[in-house]
Amino acid sequence: MVEAFAVASGKGGTGKTTSTLALGMALADSHDVTVVDADTGMANLLFHAGLSDADATLHDVLVEGGDSVEAATYERFGMSVVPCGTSLAAFERADPDRLRDVIAELATDTDVLLLDSPATLGSKAAVLPVVLADRAVVVLQPTVPALSDGLKVQEYALSYGTDVAGVLFNKVHEGESVAEQADRYFEGPTLAEIPDADAARAARAAGEPLLAHAPESTAAAAFRRAADALDVRAGDGEAVADRFRSAVIPDPP
Ligand SMILES: Nc1ncnc2c1ncn2[C@@H]1O[C@H](COP(=O)(O)OP(=O)(O)OP(=O)(O)O)[C@@H](O)[C@H]1O
Ligand SMILES: [Mg+2]
Repeated sequence: MVEAFAVASGKGGTGKTTSTLALGMALADSHDVTVVDADTGMANLLFHAGLSDADATLHDVLVEGGDSVEAATYERFGMSVVPCGTSLAAFERADPDRLRDVIAELATDTDVLLLDSPATLGSKAAVLPVVLADRAVVVLQPTVPALSDGLKVQEYALSYGTDVAGVLFNKVHEGESVAEQADRYFEGPTLAEIPDADAARAARAAGEPLLAHAPESTAAAAFRRAADALDVRAGDGEAVADRFRSAVIPDPP
């Protein structure tokens, strides 16, 4: 069984990577979880997961005659983690079409596939996770402009048959809640409001996911609630894999 989630946002820096690893670790208590840095142009998951020295990464898998997916899969923090490298030359060599086969392969062997997705919907590679996932988790900062960005991501996801699992408000300051407005506009529920937390910054600096670095923090507890609210569905791994393998990725909006 598998369900594939795209962890997406309108703008960059909202906390997608932090959220991908936090949700992954929380779900790993009860599921077999694989997280993939599907942001192959601006990859940064490796820095959050202590994998900045990783030998093989997704970039090495996405070239003709490249590494196997297993070579770029690392068992970390109770999850299977597939990081991507940061070199521009490697990104240019990588064939984004191959990412569909990589994700298809991973889908047949996990319960939850979390795709850390590019921020903008500006290229074919960027839209892939949102188009092909079962559901999208939209990570936003709690401001009205961010809601508007999130609505665009939602509209795009829904137009390709991807459900919206819900909205995760991140870096929320005291008194800043926009969950009420969000509930009016978004398809899915507000999964959680994650406080702006020094623990999240410290975790990044330490190269560890928040739930490993500060498991007792209020931010970690909020991510655990969000993971519970996801209510993971047991899809057919082969069917998900087929969808990724055979998809024709549309031109971006
Ligand atoms: N709840 C939080 N409180 C404080 N800082 C946070 C929080 N969540 C994330 N951050 C910090 O904000 C920065 C951006 O977070 P992250 O890398 O997860 O965002 P992103 O959406 O993946 O960014 P990009 O679009 O560049 O990939 C990081 O330095 C991270 O430590
Ligand atoms: Mg990121």
